[in-house]
Amino acid sequence: MIYKGIIERYKKYLPVTDKTPIITLYEGNTPLLRAKNIEKFLDINCEIYLKFEGANPTGSFKDRGMTMAISKAVECRSKAVICASTGNTAASAAAYAARAGLKCSVIIPDGSIALGKLSQAMMHGAKVIALKGNFDDALKIVLEITEKYPLTLVNSLNPYRIEGQKTAAFEIIDFLGRAPDYHFIPVGNAGNITAYWKGYTEWKTGPKMMGFQASGAAPIVRGKPVKNPKTIATAIKIGNPASWKKAEQARDESKGVIDTVTDGEIIKAYKLLASLEGIFVEPASAASVAGLIKYKDVIVSKAKQSRFTIVCTLTGHGLKDPDRAIKSAIQPKVIDQNMKKILKAIGL
Ligand code: F0G
Repeated sequence: MIYKGIIERYKKYLPVTDKTPIITLYEGNTPLLRAKNIEKFLDINCEIYLKFEGANPTGSFKDRGMTMAISKAVECRSKAVICASTGNTAASAAAYAARAGLKCSVIIPDGSIALGKLSQAMMHGAKVIALKGNFDDALKIVLEITEKYPLTLVNSLNPYRIEGQKTAAFEIIDFLGRAPDYHFIPVGNAGNITAYWKGYTEWKTGPKMMGFQASGAAPIVRGKPVKNPKTIATAIKIGNPASWKKAEQARDESKGVIDTVTDGEIIKAYKLLASLEGIFVEPASAASVAGLIKYKDVIVSKAKQSRFTIVCTLTGHGLKDPDRAIKSAIQPKVIDQNMKKILKAIGL
């Protein structure tokens, strides 16, 4: 079968009919890469796989949910969509809305979204509103607007988003032939952990769901909303997640955990992925691998009886946030056109 996006591939398991117009950019079918170098680096007797969602058309996992949300919006004759976003939802909504001929508005926290995402939303012609406030403030306003005006909400509170995103779990089961033992995933607004768990449970299987929030933006771990969330991982800088309860349900039903990783741990994992595996992700995405590193000893102690299969979701592409990459890596050397100096700089 020629691959035509997640709706074509998983139609039977999605709330679509033959009448649903499929708005797609051929999202999904993303690589599940074995991470042998990280296995070696961690000295861990497990198989680690990385689900690289940065390979989606707009560079993040949001496209899986957005193809569903926008297709259903068109089916329901909606003319305009709106979302609050830390950036990736905005980029994805703007792209799919453009393709569908819908109007799109996005409300983003001013100064807190990565440059790549902002440029995407702008280029796809969305109305971009930079709110003086944080993501939680933006979501509250968007919910108020969608209650009063005929705009379709395309945040993950829209159930079609979750339906689309659950297909990532289907792809993992298809690839491995079964569910992994552990699934590590970043947690922000908590839609994605909810979606994966839905996907796994529809197959009556499931790994332990291991969700990770940034330590300065960890309301689920702290047990109360965080007023001023702080983290360099701007995608998950969220203090009051919309799918809070469902994330807890995924954690409890799967006998997993939701825990924190520090910005330092996130940056360490971010650099490891790029330098050891050739995979460039945005900082929030590295929270899954940072979580795996944090839980390595727990897993190793249990792995004595059996060899575990571990999947880490890498939610978004590194090019989304070039500023952070440049701040995190060794700066280029500026050198005259002098062969001697150039050879010295190369190390020859
Ligand atoms: N990783 C990235 C790269 C994200 O953009 C997000 C969420 C998450 C992880 C967390 O996923 O919210 O489903 O728990 N980004 C949203 C946005 C909030 O607006 O783009 P979640």
